[in-house]
Amino acid sequence: ALGDRHTTNDARSRRLVVVSNRLGNVRDLAQAGGLTAGILDALAERGGLWLGASEGHHGSAAGDEPLIHLERVGKIETAALTLPQQEYSLYYNGYANSTLWPLFHYRLDLVQHRSEFLHAYRQINARFAQALARLLSGNDDLIWVHDYHLIPLAAALRRLGLGNRIGFFLHIPFPPPDLFVATPDHAELIADLLQYDVLGFQTATDVTNFRRSARATGSTTFDAGGIAQSSGRTVLSRSFPIGIDVDAFARMANEAAEDVQIDSMRRQILGLKQIIGVDRLDYSKGLPGRMQAFARLLEKHPENERAVTYLQIASPTREEVAAYAEIRAQLEATAGSVNGKYADLTWTPIRYIHRTVPRSRLAGLLRASQVGLVTPLRDGMNLVAKEYIAAQDPADPGVLVLSRFAGAAEELAQSLIVNPYAVDEVADAIAKALAMPLEERIARHGALIERIRRNDAAQWRKSFLEALANMS
Ligand code: ADP
Ligand code: F6P
Repeated sequence: ALGDRHTTNDARSRRLVVVSNRLGNVRDLAQAGGLTAGILDALAERGGLWLGASEGHHGSAAGDEPLIHLERVGKIETAALTLPQQEYSLYYNGYANSTLWPLFHYRLDLVQHRSEFLHAYRQINARFAQALARLLSGNDDLIWVHDYHLIPLAAALRRLGLGNRIGFFLHIPFPPPDLFVATPDHAELIADLLQYDVLGFQTATDVTNFRRSARATGSTTFDAGGIAQSSGRTVLSRSFPIGIDVDAFARMANEAAEDVQIDSMRRQILGLKQIIGVDRLDYSKGLPGRMQAFARLLEKHPENERAVTYLQIASPTREEVAAYAEIRAQLEATAGSVNGKYADLTWTPIRYIHRTVPRSRLAGLLRASQVGLVTPLRDGMNLVAKEYIAAQDPADPGVLVLSRFAGAAEELAQSLIVNPYAVDEVADAIAKALAMPLEERIARHGALIERIRRNDAAQWRKSFLEALANMS
């Protein structure tokens, strides 16, 4: 049962141990985005340890003894775990990003099942567990595990005899049971998840999908409060929608780099508008469809020709996975064909940039754009949607066009919600956004900013850690 033995104070006094595949950069807090920033703030606030895979050093620790590089910056200690290169690749490019990522983003057509992927996934999780067992200071440490790379970690820790409270937060969607049970490993994945004490999801839909999938495996039932009993333990599953640090992002946008401001002023004088998209170059983000919708806008609403530019910043990601190379080629072909059709000597309709941009510049670019286009085919939350809102000038805000299939759509009802598969609908929403009167823009933005403040990064980590500490 949920006990009140641990109060909030008690929760704060216990050491926090975070585990994720990718370690955040503790030395460059300004560059930390989304997930990383949320976790770093929690660790900076109360002190603690963060364990993750060592970057670029895979290869030398094939043996049983974990090779861990410890570093301390202020109150945060990081532990970088060296992992065998080939096994790491089968785990990261393989099971995590060729099996689980497409499955959890409803893309059964892209899922690959290979026994060596699953084997490496379990091996790497066992290595994380061994490393963690050495780093823990006792049963009282609160362990917070992040994302789909580490689903079996609690089970591996329990096998080593650890009785700590262990929480898991899934940053990506959880698929409906009909899709989930298509993976041969579904029963094991559910059994692994039920080894945690708290299971956190982005949205109510994800929680429902998880519970229905768990019921479909036949091993669990949930009471009205969402509590399951599993091997004599109590498991809480709930949504904890992730957020951003609204004020910090707004400040960064306000202090935008000079060249961003000059460019924005030039556009203002010429009466030109900018639409912006910012994403990792992932097939879940709906980028080719978004470019097609922009082309449709120019076709259906020709008053926008030469008056609007669409800036798409797409950062390189998971390039060793074939589906990512394919989406890149497809996107480049789409951008090329739209520009080929519409560009003239003075106007390039799509500016496509395939790189990662410094966060402060990104914030400035979001502020300088009259429309934010966030149209994933499926997304856990999508923090760019929240960053776009936070970046706006409240006296003259831009308009967010948001996919109904982003987790953020559950909270951000005052944006223009679209179906990203319906190209005409997206084109019409962009036209509506570009023409929206100031009064309506201010009203929508006011409601949205209020919403992202309520569910911000601080609230996210506080509510998750309180739920975890309160499990008895
Ligand atoms: P995901 O976790 O799937 O990448 P999110 O939208 O939730 O999607 O988070 C992405 C984070 O990465 C955001 O903080 C966003 O600002 C940042 N980001 C995305 N693309 C870029 C880019 N090209 N340059 C810099 N930062 C980026
Ligand atoms: O938000 C989902 C997520 O997969 C995070 O877990 C991850 O750190 C981020 O996207 C970027 O992906 P990657 O770590 O594979 O570059």
